[in-house]
Amino acid sequence: MTAVDAKDAVACARCGGTGWVIEKRGAAEVARRCRCSIERRKESLLADAGIPRRYADCTLDSFSVFDNSSLKAAKRISQKFIDAYPVVTKGILFIGKPGVGKTHLAVAILKEIIRKTGDTGIFFDYRDLLKQVQDSYNPESQSTEMQVLEPVLSCRVLVLDEIGARRVTAWMHDTIFYILNQRYSNKMLTIITSNFPETKSDDDEETLEDRIGFRLDSRIHEMCDFVEVEGADYRKTLLHKRYSDRG
Ligand SMILES: Nc1ncnc2c1ncn2[C@@H]1O[C@H](COP(=O)(O)OP(=O)(O)OP(=O)(O)O)[C@@H](O)[C@H]1O
Ligand SMILES: [Mg+2]
Ligand SMILES: [Zn+2]
Repeated sequence: MTAVDAKDAVACARCGGTGWVIEKRGAAEVARRCRCSIERRKESLLADAGIPRRYADCTLDSFSVFDNSSLKAAKRISQKFIDAYPVVTKGILFIGKPGVGKTHLAVAILKEIIRKTGDTGIFFDYRDLLKQVQDSYNPESQSTEMQVLEPVLSCRVLVLDEIGARRVTAWMHDTIFYILNQRYSNKMLTIITSNFPETKSDDDEETLEDRIGFRLDSRIHEMCDFVEVEGADYRKTLLHKRYSDRG
């Protein structure tokens, strides 16, 4: 018995720390997972979801809407997604300028779904994912490409943060295409964030399609509802304002 098991044995009166309870169903006795082991599984899923420390405490409750209709809509859509899950057919693509809260919302959804259902969920920054795949090609690497990709392909909910945030080589494009096409084909939910708009507002601006190519852009349209988030950069203005309000 490990230290953790021993602690649970003291803590859980229902199962005596075994993680299982025996129930009578008519004449038969059946074993069922104890609530404490389901809670433990959720905690370990959350710990393994790859959520960056900065976002560990992000929830929908902690997302302020500041009387801004775009933030209100984004929060409402996020809540609706959580409430409807798992009966949802499309993920969400949050599009908007830096600091408007896209990653905050994506993480809040991911955490709440893991907490609510115990389903598997993974957070990956687009650049980190490509780097981990690239590193796996190094002969000295501890992990293979498939070991990196397996959880990304199989998790029930994937958050892919900052899609298109770096220029990619042909093989990187193939990798991202493979991942999203697999999830698309298997109808798996993906929540994405991007700084790149759907359409150009001036000639210099690059669109999401410019960054990721039209075949991927087309699939994402079918996989995700597009949610534009417009507001002030929370990092620059709102955090700063709160600080000066206090003084
Ligand atoms: N409406 C909000 N209420 C509370 N906190 C917020 C809000 N918007 C943003 N934040 C906080 O501000 C910081 C920046 O937000 P976030 O990282 O989600 O922005 P982003 O839209 O993903 O930006 P980028 O495009 O640069 O990735 C985070 O710490 C986040 O928790
Ligand atoms: Mg972000
Ligand atoms: Zn128990």
